[in-house]
Amino acid sequence: MSAAERFFVTGALGCIGAWTVRALVRDGMPVVAFDLGRDHRRLTQIMSEDELAGVDFVVGDITDLASLERTLDERGITNVIHLAALQVPFCRADPPLGALVNVVGTVNLFEAVKRRGGLPAPVVYTSSIGMFGAADEDPSTHRLEETADGHPTTHYGVYKRANEGNARVYALDDGIASVGLRPMTVYGVGRDQGMTSTPTTAIAAAVLGVSYRISFSGTTLFQYAEDVAATLIAASRSSLQGAHVFNLGGSSVDIPSWIAAIEDAVPDAAGTITAAPAELPFPSEIAHDALTAALGPVPVTPYRDGIAATVEILRRLQTEGRLVGIEQGLPAAEPSPA
Ligand SMILES: NC(=O)c1ccc[n+]([C@@H]2O[C@H](COP(=O)([O-])OP(=O)(O)OC[C@H]3O[C@@H](n4cnc5c(N)ncnc54)[C@H](O)[C@@H]3O)[C@@H](O)[C@H]2O)c1
Repeated sequence: MSAAERFFVTGALGCIGAWTVRALVRDGMPVVAFDLGRDHRRLTQIMSEDELAGVDFVVGDITDLASLERTLDERGITNVIHLAALQVPFCRADPPLGALVNVVGTVNLFEAVKRRGGLPAPVVYTSSIGMFGAADEDPSTHRLEETADGHPTTHYGVYKRANEGNARVYALDDGIASVGLRPMTVYGVGRDQGMTSTPTTAIAAAVLGVSYRISFSGTTLFQYAEDVAATLIAASRSSLQGAHVFNLGGSSVDIPSWIAAIEDAVPDAAGTITAAPAELPFPSEIAHDALTAALGPVPVTPYRDGIAATVEILRRLQTEGRLVGIEQGLPAAEPSPA
């Protein structure tokens, strides 16, 4: 770590962005938080006013290359963590916009770094296990091996796969180092939108005392948002050269066990959380040893501890009158009959 590090986080107002900003601020790092949005709620759910006071917020659009270049220049950025993107349902609803934000936006980021002559740290960005389809599992191990090729079944997955390819070409053509991390199902406070957000919304529903149906069944690999943030920062501080991409580890959990853990943390919620039968269109068993081989040990919070920590934060928000269902991904309350 260098005393001169200045971090640039795109998508800083999203779930993983908020946890990344929090970790950097708690580590005493200057952070430029870049996002199209202006709603700071995910940050205020997990950070104090004092912590937020030191963050340099820039409202900007990653589809605007000039604005990225200007911000990198003006702020003397050394480390880039690129998270801004539209998730699966938003890409499905508007594929051209999804391609513009997720693919062109990522190319813009690499281009802005290239035009500055590169940075001291590798560009770190989130790819996704969504760049694979369920059929990409090895038929003999039923596991997604680290060497698997991706055949995504969503536009989002195609865009993520394209980003990995563009990162590779920026390394080949321009020597821009990069580390892409592929999370699967991130959970924790602030995970309130996206295809795999419903296991977190179920925790909020339990705390709020309302019944809730998780949108999928089967087993998935859960990653606690705080761990993902720590891993992104570790990747940014690595001295890796070339273009690297790693699957992230985590807790492989089936949905009945997930629900049981919520019920253990919130006993009053027993019997109120259910799950839809459909399984996710992604692999569930995921090899991920290459990450620690390259970066060394990274934190992996056991899922029961991650759920308990989430409940603790949500209960505090509830006590402060700040736990709002719609902000946690719950449907708006039905208007009561006149
Ligand atoms: N959450 C997961 O389980 C998961 C899994 C795999 C990969 N990822 C990837 O991790 C990253 C962060 O995910 P998240 O869960 O925090 O998402 P999120 O939806 O909570 O946050 C995304 C943020 O990007 C911002 N954004 C969107 N378009 C933008 C634009 N044009 N310019 C600037 N900012 C823009 C949004 O305002 C939002 O704050 C994304 O790249 C996502 O694809 C997430």
